[in-house]
Amino acid sequence: MYCVRQITEDCWWLGASDRRLALFENVYPIPQGISYNSYLVLDEKTVLLDTADAAVGKQFFENLEHLLAGRKLDYVIVNHMEPDHAATLDELLRRFPEVQIVGNAKTLTMIGQFFDGDVSGQFVSVKEGETLTTGRHTFTFVMAPMVHWPETMVTYDAQEKILFSADAFGTFGALNGNIFADEVNFERDWLDDARRYYANIVGKYGVQVQNLLKKAAGLDIQYLCPLHGPIWRENIGWFVEKYQRWGSWMPEEQAVVIVYGSIYGHTQNAAEILAAQLAEKGVRNITMYDASKTDPSYLVSEAFRCSHLVVASATYNAGIYTPVETFLLELKAHALQNRTVALIENGTWAPQSGRLMGEIFASMKNVTVLEDTVSLKSSVKEPQRRSLLALADTLAQTL
Ligand code: FEO
Repeated sequence: MYCVRQITEDCWWLGASDRRLALFENVYPIPQGISYNSYLVLDEKTVLLDTADAAVGKQFFENLEHLLAGRKLDYVIVNHMEPDHAATLDELLRRFPEVQIVGNAKTLTMIGQFFDGDVSGQFVSVKEGETLTTGRHTFTFVMAPMVHWPETMVTYDAQEKILFSADAFGTFGALNGNIFADEVNFERDWLDDARRYYANIVGKYGVQVQNLLKKAAGLDIQYLCPLHGPIWRENIGWFVEKYQRWGSWMPEEQAVVIVYGSIYGHTQNAAEILAAQLAEKGVRNITMYDASKTDPSYLVSEAFRCSHLVVASATYNAGIYTPVETFLLELKAHALQNRTVALIENGTWAPQSGRLMGEIFASMKNVTVLEDTVSLKSSVKEPQRRSLLALADTLAQTL
């Protein structure tokens, strides 16, 4: 049975949620599920904005058939070709063989790569700033390459002042009846997953995100409709400000996150001593994670939130303890910048994780590694405890 919600007079949400999927993109845990948003504008012509993941295809088509109520589908605008939105495009073409597909040149190439058959005869190729008028509505197409794929574009409807923003402004998490951000406590219940989605999915492409934000700044946006998660119709500037910070790799908060990799607990002990001393110095809201049992996507997200990182690692196979190394390589892959870092290393006979961690951070832009790396040999003794207190002092002074 159909399950849809109305957004504006002409625009409807016809997406669906998946609470069964364990890993988004087969890599990121999504304990709260995921929504695949799709939108339909009922004008003199009918306009679908993106399809949906195959997992919710049955629901999506029931929703679409209901909203069309026997009308034909005139256009499908393909803002993004990643299969979580476009996997059902071929089924859409079977059901509506006369639909005009709107996208850019790269979209057409990708349709050919993902599907069989030639759709060039029904493809309307658009470029930056070009428009499509469907009656009352005029849609303007704005290219958003690498937010999140090269073909990605966003679509602005001047009639109802809606920005269909593709993956931008999306978040992990299923929609639970409330499809609008103002219907939920977004800051309490969604922001962490929004940040984790941003950092891991789009985080590498901050420059391109900033380019998109500059273009969007010139639009009067009353509704922000992403492909995942809640729709924004109030307080849009608050969420845009988050994107400005994340997109420029500026920390969201002056805060310390500690990530440790500890085999028998001694490296953890050093991290705990440092954290306690930071607390004594007045540092509040310290977060600490065991890299061995925390999915890297959460650690990357915390690194995007916090101004200061403490990383503690055992030496393992003459290198960085693997879970910590994975975390650091993820930070590098997502081009993290503008952070202050303190390091703790451990090694029973040849500690060198500190030097190796420092080398990874040295390859990142505008990351300051504090000089006084604390080096343990097996466990914390009194000299190392004093070194940890000194490191806490230095760290606290930079906050
Ligand atoms: Fe939600 Fe890049 O796809």
